[in-house]
Amino acid sequence: MRWEYDHELSEEQFALQAEARKFSEKEIRPKALELDEHSTFPHELLQKAHSLGLMNLYQEEPYGGTDLSLFDTCIVIEELAWGCAGVTTSIVVNDLALTPIRLYGTPEQKEKFIKPICEQGQYASFCLSEPGAGSDAGGLSTSLKRDGDHYILNGQKQWITNGGHASQYTVFATLDKSAKHKGICAVVVPAEREGISTGHHENKLGQRCSNTVSVTFENVRIPIENRLGDEGQGFGIAMHTLDCSRPMTAIIAVGNARAAFEHALRYASERKQFSRPISDFQAIQSMLADMATDIEAARRLTYRSADLIDRGISASLESSMAKRFAADMGMKVSTDAVQIFGGYGYTKDYPVEKCMRDAKLLQIYEGTSQIQRLVIARELLKRLT
Ligand code: CAA
Repeated sequence: MRWEYDHELSEEQFALQAEARKFSEKEIRPKALELDEHSTFPHELLQKAHSLGLMNLYQEEPYGGTDLSLFDTCIVIEELAWGCAGVTTSIVVNDLALTPIRLYGTPEQKEKFIKPICEQGQYASFCLSEPGAGSDAGGLSTSLKRDGDHYILNGQKQWITNGGHASQYTVFATLDKSAKHKGICAVVVPAEREGISTGHHENKLGQRCSNTVSVTFENVRIPIENRLGDEGQGFGIAMHTLDCSRPMTAIIAVGNARAAFEHALRYASERKQFSRPISDFQAIQSMLADMATDIEAARRLTYRSADLIDRGISASLESSMAKRFAADMGMKVSTDAVQIFGGYGYTKDYPVEKCMRDAKLLQIYEGTSQIQRLVIARELLKRLT
């Protein structure tokens, strides 16, 4: 079913979209329900995606990445998320973890920390959140202490996607908690270092196949050359990275919502009540019209934020607008899809309940919808001065 309005994409972008769509249709979608049911990490699918260049999309080619612009990365991610949002989160989190190195790493650090992950199909995790510091990322407690030419890392990170399978962690930790965000550093931590342990895989409502664990660091020795940027620059590195990754999350919401919408559109045209397809009723038509319009609006906001970032323009405002709008849209559209299916939609015999469960996480991770509003408002108020 092709109903989207994307005629302005170039030939190359259409080809990229078609390749991702094919992978999603043939490989991801047939396995999505089973992976969800058993909460199974989609290792095989990720390895296939990697072999086709559908992982590490936003990483540079000299370091083994697919080297797409953020805009093109979003085109691919929408198609993957149409197949399964949980699988797509598992794919996209490598880009989240590697982007701080892409943005702030020296050529030697990129060679050492991006290349092996991209070339060998390994996993990397982004470790910012903690049990006591979620939305307030600047209030994190995981500590770094200088010891000669090493740091000693101690603390616990929470909600770490792919954390149980990662070969490398990008960790945000503080040299001095009293300095608040000014004490934070970003360090790259190979998973084989002594003193690292991971918790149980969280039994989540949605995106159940994506691996979510806590990661604990106990007196882990990190060479100083693993630090990205300067001491105290870590919080800015995390925020800049999230500016680039929030469009990727927004477009996961678009792909997932599009899947829910397509199911609902078809079902509405087939399901008969009062001797007519329910799509004959204006109440249903109105829901379908709003769903399609809102998906399109979210896609456009996302494309715009990605395009600004590709052009080197600071886009905290647009990136948070895209993430806020797309995540909330995805929740509404997938809930409406369940509504159109009625009682059937509430069962696991039909695919829309999974879309609804998967959508919820997109309003929470990479900054809740409330945090996106805070960023948007602050950016707007800044422009007054
Ligand atoms: N780029 C660069 N620097 C930035 C920035 C940006 N986008 N935004 C802020 N900064 C800088 C500011 O300029 C300021 O620097 P100075 O002190 O030098 O002026 C500094 O950072 C502090 O900024 P704020 O005063 O705005 O910081 P704050 O503590 O009030 O709030 C926040 C910031 C927006 C609430 C932030 O904490 C935030 O985004 N929280 C949400 C965290 C989040 O998204 N977590 C998700 C984790 S990732 C994930 O979900 C993992 C997964 O596996 C999927």
